[in-house]
Amino acid sequence: MCGIVGYVGHRQAVDVVMAGLRRLEYRGYDSTGVAVAHEGRIASAKKAGKLANLDAVLAESPLPAATTGIGHTRWATHGAPNDANAHPHLDSEGRVAVVHNGIIENFAELRAELEAAGHELVSETDTETVAHLLHDELKVTPDLPEAVRAVCRRLEGAFTLVITDAQQPDVVVGARRNSPLVVGVGEGEMFLGSDVAAFIDHTREAVELGQDQVVSITKDGFEVTGFDGSPAQTKAYHVDWDVSAAEKGGFDWYMLKEIAEQPQAVADTLLGRHTTDGRLQLDEVRLSDDELREIDKIIIIACGTASYAGLVAKYAIEHWTRIPCEVELASEFRYRDPIIDRSTLVVAISQSGETMDTLMAIRYARQQRARVLSVCNTNGSTIPRESDAVIYTHAGPEVAVASTKGFLSQVVACYLLGLYLAQVRGVKFGDEISQIIAELEKLPAGIQRMLDEGQQVRDLAADLVGKRSFLFLGRHVGYPVALEGALKLKELAYVHAEGFAAGELKHGPIALVEEGLPVFVVVPPHGRDQLRDKVISNIQEIRARGARTIVLAEDGDTDVERYADTLIRLPKVPTLLQPLVATVPLQIFACELAVQLGYDVDQPRNLAKSVTVE
Ligand code: F6R
Repeated sequence: MCGIVGYVGHRQAVDVVMAGLRRLEYRGYDSTGVAVAHEGRIASAKKAGKLANLDAVLAESPLPAATTGIGHTRWATHGAPNDANAHPHLDSEGRVAVVHNGIIENFAELRAELEAAGHELVSETDTETVAHLLHDELKVTPDLPEAVRAVCRRLEGAFTLVITDAQQPDVVVGARRNSPLVVGVGEGEMFLGSDVAAFIDHTREAVELGQDQVVSITKDGFEVTGFDGSPAQTKAYHVDWDVSAAEKGGFDWYMLKEIAEQPQAVADTLLGRHTTDGRLQLDEVRLSDDELREIDKIIIIACGTASYAGLVAKYAIEHWTRIPCEVELASEFRYRDPIIDRSTLVVAISQSGETMDTLMAIRYARQQRARVLSVCNTNGSTIPRESDAVIYTHAGPEVAVASTKGFLSQVVACYLLGLYLAQVRGVKFGDEISQIIAELEKLPAGIQRMLDEGQQVRDLAADLVGKRSFLFLGRHVGYPVALEGALKLKELAYVHAEGFAAGELKHGPIALVEEGLPVFVVVPPHGRDQLRDKVISNIQEIRARGARTIVLAEDGDTDVERYADTLIRLPKVPTLLQPLVATVPLQIFACELAVQLGYDVDQPRNLAKSVTVE
């Protein structure tokens, strides 16, 4: 997730902006940049890598003294994380500088229009189009806020923009659609930030901007309007968090913050990938339609939580594409002499893009001439770089070791892949694909509901705090949800937890069931009645043996009520989408149990965020 800082005041803007960017480092980034308005020109510096690299650039060629500036830490989405793509982006005359967080969906059209009109764009980013559009707009509408509003009305997608105009150095303008932007209100100085951490060293008075709003800050105040110029309502608040809480958005743990970000992570991963006429366009899939039509087998390789995302995806991909799909642990893959060739599509799922087991597996797959597509959250990391194609999840950086928003966005990205393959191979009609996409687009609301109802699960965790053993059961896509629920609990709360396919229980694990053993069971939705009935029988079997049943079932499923000691309600969604809502309470439960036990939720013992050894 990019970090943004804007400043107008009486101090050296470069110092304030650089300090703000340092406070935003926790958001994760791959390049940085800063710009100041000075004597009618923009002076800027930007660099790939960490802020220390930008420090070195500034030490060598300091920016001029100025009291207005903007800065950015970039988490790459469009274009590699290199110097050219780092923000700020300037127009061709170096009059305006723009930093941006989000994805401008119609940037390809806008870029084509600008190039046809003679603009030369020097980066691969969507952001640069905004600088050039502003350049033209300022000729017609010289007032910066007005010009920004006019440009925003042309943009589609999600964006937070912060802009400085060298010819209007007393003002910095921000715009917000979907991605957050906060105003910091100081004495004789004003700030803009992706969150309050950007300015918490200077002021604790903040104003939250709403959707589709434009703010202009001067050293003495700020003004907010809608994109149409009408005066807008804002919400002022006092920040009483300390600095470390501010970085976590007020949450006690990064993991909690990341769990709460899941509706956005899912929405962002879906953003801009299908047209209104129902066609999916996955621009990053650099395999031709002919190559995709040749595929006769898919092997998903991944580790840990990512492999469970793969297990969920297998059901959907096989169902939608009718291509056989296997899921294999990356660490096992190349040691079993797998049968793969040019017509095999190997799909590597990795949040970090650096997991050594997965990397070695794709290297092996490519040696065997398989085509490799990665699903990854980290632009420019090694796994996507070594793949033939990539679909990026747009979850933003995951800081907590335990993966949460990574998992949900991986499932969504794999679903997009499955639908794309179905489209290219002609096994699904456009309207069928549109219908599934429409269901996927409803998910953020369903996930939000699971978050809103999280207190039930937190109370349950408090109640079960002394238990040392837990089971998780599910069938079909509920099975990987059970595996993921158990993994989260093991890694965070250090208790024995196992996930099983509910039908396997009677083949051995049922011997573990004893009086009071907590067992989570994911019940398939109505419409999968055969499957559902079997799971309900499984609940009865364990209950008869004394298990304490915690049942996750959709709204309106009354049959399960009498077998559930605790009933967690899920919104009604199609079967294949149920994992995206059912996983959320299990994440909250594991996190809360670990908190109750006094463990470090973000850095569980013995674990690393990115496992770069085999
Ligand atoms: C569990 C977890 C790990 C990772 C696994 C793969 O919460 O985070 O199991 O899912 O190490 O990591 P990536 O996705 O970075 O390849």
